[in-house]
Amino acid sequence: MLSSVVASQESIHAKYGGVVPELASRRHIEAIVPVVEEALAKAGKTLGDIGGISVTQGPGLVGSLLIGLSFAKSLSLARGLPLTGVNHIEAHAHAAFLTEREGEGGGPGFPFVALIVSGGHTTLLLFEDATTYRVLGQTLDDSAGEAFDKVAKLLGLGYPGGAAIDRLAREGDRRAIDFPRPLMARGSLDFSFSGLKTSMLTHVRKLDGPPTEAHLKDLSASFQEAVVDALVTKALWALRATGAKDLVAAGGVASNSRFRARLAEMAEEEGIELFIPPPRYCTDNAAMVASLGFHQLRKGMLAGLDMNAKPTWEGF
Ligand SMILES: Nc1ncnc2c1ncn2[C@@H]1O[C@H](COP(=O)(O)OP(=O)(O)OP(=O)(O)O)[C@@H](O)[C@H]1O
Ligand SMILES: [Mg+2]
Repeated sequence: MLSSVVASQESIHAKYGGVVPELASRRHIEAIVPVVEEALAKAGKTLGDIGGISVTQGPGLVGSLLIGLSFAKSLSLARGLPLTGVNHIEAHAHAAFLTEREGEGGGPGFPFVALIVSGGHTTLLLFEDATTYRVLGQTLDDSAGEAFDKVAKLLGLGYPGGAAIDRLAREGDRRAIDFPRPLMARGSLDFSFSGLKTSMLTHVRKLDGPPTEAHLKDLSASFQEAVVDALVTKALWALRATGAKDLVAAGGVASNSRFRARLAEMAEEEGIELFIPPPRYCTDNAAMVASLGFHQLRKGMLAGLDMNAKPTWEGF
């Protein structure tokens, strides 16, 4: 990898407690040219050195997707460059190949299971090769990231709150509160996290007054353990069901320290090779989109100028 530039919008949306779609697209318009220029400058390259363009086609907020697509199509037309559109969630799994190119170790072998735990998705995928996958399971309601963010908001920890819960949980008692573990009995590879949020609300309301620092630590640790239990258990079930020996975990929630530790324990016990990208490649980044796009372009999976955004992607 020659360069990876990320323009974060977190501070813009933080004061609203969630992503405001209109603000997100406006910021994309402002950021896209400077980000591409910076990425080229950091790589010591010019547009003339580029061999192809990879862009996120979906799933996601339509306004933001359209800005990326319009820009990529314009550049492709102006420079006569091949273009490919990628599934952003599939691309999150490709973050596992980025460190390989940075010389930090080999990437996963095929077939591998990928557990994508991002702000909007909790999805188990089976990859047969770099561009062929099937969906094994996903959340029926909130994503794990949404659960972290909604619970953090409820506890007054700000937005996005996953990292704040992670920090508090380190000093809390994971067994203080027995939060529900839905869909665990049926052997299902789907997830459900909305009940956890309701359960948290019930616990907070039972306290006399606002939660103390000690409460916050215990609530965070117990909540986090319930989410991590579901994620690690289902990842293991997916590995067993498919016979895959390699596991990738990516998406913003894969930065969670307890999740990383529990996955490592499970992988050790089960003889699974685990790939969790460093946090900078777990949250949204263009490098993972380029990694998947590289394989698609090589396979001739080209898009025309009529490529449209897919805010919802079938199966996701
Ligand atoms: N240490 C952490 N522990 C738990 N959650 C975390 C941690 N760090 C970040 N997160 C969560 O990660 C999420 C953001 O992840 P990411 O950037 O992958 O989402 P996204 O790419 O916007 O979502 P999608 O790809 O589904 O559209 C937020 O919900 C945030 O709270
Ligand atoms: Mg993402």
